[in-house]
Amino acid sequence: MTKTATITAIWERLKGLPQPSLAELFAGDDERVAKLSQRLEFDLGEFGPLGMLLDWSKTHLDDPVLDEFEELCEATGFADSRAALFDGGIVNPTEGRAATHGAMRGSGTEADVEEGEALLARMGMLVEAIHEGALGPVKHLIHIGIGGSALGPQLAVDALTRDLELVNVHVVSNIDGLALEQAFAACDPATTLIAIASKTFTTTETMTNASSALKWLSENGVDDPGGRVIALTANPEGAVEWGVDETRILPFPESVGGRYSLWSSIGFPLALAVGMEDFRAFLTGALAIDTHFRETDGRANAPLLAAFGDLYYARVRGCQTRAVFAYDERLALLPDYLQQLEMESNGKSATADGKPVNQPTAAITWGGVGTDAQHAVFQLLHQGTHLVPVDFIASIAPGDELAPAHHKSLLMNCLAQGATLMAGKASDDLACNYPGDRPSAMFLLDDCDAATLGALIAFHEHRTFAGAVLMGINPFDQFGVELGKAMAKSIDSGEGNFDPSTKALMAAAGLQS
Ligand code: F6P
Repeated sequence: MTKTATITAIWERLKGLPQPSLAELFAGDDERVAKLSQRLEFDLGEFGPLGMLLDWSKTHLDDPVLDEFEELCEATGFADSRAALFDGGIVNPTEGRAATHGAMRGSGTEADVEEGEALLARMGMLVEAIHEGALGPVKHLIHIGIGGSALGPQLAVDALTRDLELVNVHVVSNIDGLALEQAFAACDPATTLIAIASKTFTTTETMTNASSALKWLSENGVDDPGGRVIALTANPEGAVEWGVDETRILPFPESVGGRYSLWSSIGFPLALAVGMEDFRAFLTGALAIDTHFRETDGRANAPLLAAFGDLYYARVRGCQTRAVFAYDERLALLPDYLQQLEMESNGKSATADGKPVNQPTAAITWGGVGTDAQHAVFQLLHQGTHLVPVDFIASIAPGDELAPAHHKSLLMNCLAQGATLMAGKASDDLACNYPGDRPSAMFLLDDCDAATLGALIAFHEHRTFAGAVLMGINPFDQFGVELGKAMAKSIDSGEGNFDPSTKALMAAAGLQS
């Protein structure tokens, strides 16, 4: 049998397996919780212990399904692809590149890791110099970037600076001038630095916002606005050409993808806000997950199992979306971050060797923060006609210092939702009937500190990569975003041949010359 035929046969078998309900699965196996939950525990040395409990027992994964999963790992050559990722192999074939984001935190070839360490040391020197006043008093950083150059820093700064921020970070991504104006209103130009974060140093939104930020500095009494700029980029020549002084350019390798770049100099705002020690803890937490992912096989490999679960629900149970609810304000931006990571990586319809995939690929990732979401979108999860697998994420240690009743209630609600989705409640009155048998997984973190956040993000990077390998697609390119950019340019140049609807809208919006 060819590789494709073997993989197709596995999916056919998976689709043909009996589908016991979650209640039946629990009733049939007293050991289910022990078998399908896993505590990941690491000793991070100077950064202390790191722990999280992962529970997949409320999903429909069972032994027959997991046996096929292990066959699928064999058939897709998962172990070889994983080795290629860490060995600097060309895992991004359309762009002819390796993917070396792991090396920025210590996982990769010796040469890549050495390069990562050198770049980190360079960033550390600048961060520490700024903290020591080398650029005068610095109270604010306006971090300008978009997509992968913004979502990671925004999440990490929001998560980790609730009680300490050495420098106030304002992340601006949107071309809508309101976003930048809002940052200006919160900053004093005399004590503000501007970080221009762009892998390519060509992205229209970022370069337009960067020019406006410089103009704001010079119009507000800053003599040398260029001297307040730091560039975070894989295109240092582009940054020099734009006018950034070489000493304030923090480069990163071309082989680090935008949505995987938080570990590189794109993490500069986090390092500036929390200090280098916490930034290193963040990297070390991620490295612990790299090691787990690299050294563990089959169902014990947590990100790999999670990736298979995502695909199982998309391909066998017809789920078009998956939802992530963080029961922790510190992780409120995690769903946004995961949307880009998962949808830009695996929202594809061609295989890495250019053939149609012919089966669903990445589900639509969405979510929110609990308990808020319970009062907004959970109605659909409990009684809607769509089956939505849910991930819950919570921390045992609270982020707040108020009465313990707050955190207790947060955790109780989180656990109650998973239990309710699974158990349901039968009623003759259809409006009050909860069908139940709805799957969820739990990530119960010991704490939500820098190391744990690093681990959580690295977990999802590997979940995304593993999903791509099991589907046979390339998670590291994003050609799907290019056509829209080109169309916007042709509206600007007036050269495009647009449909009647768009032409009418262009006229109504005043965009037609
Ligand atoms: O348009 C998509 C994209 O290329 C993302 O992949 C990327 O994270 C974002 O734009 C920003 O790109 P850059 O960092 O090059 O400005």
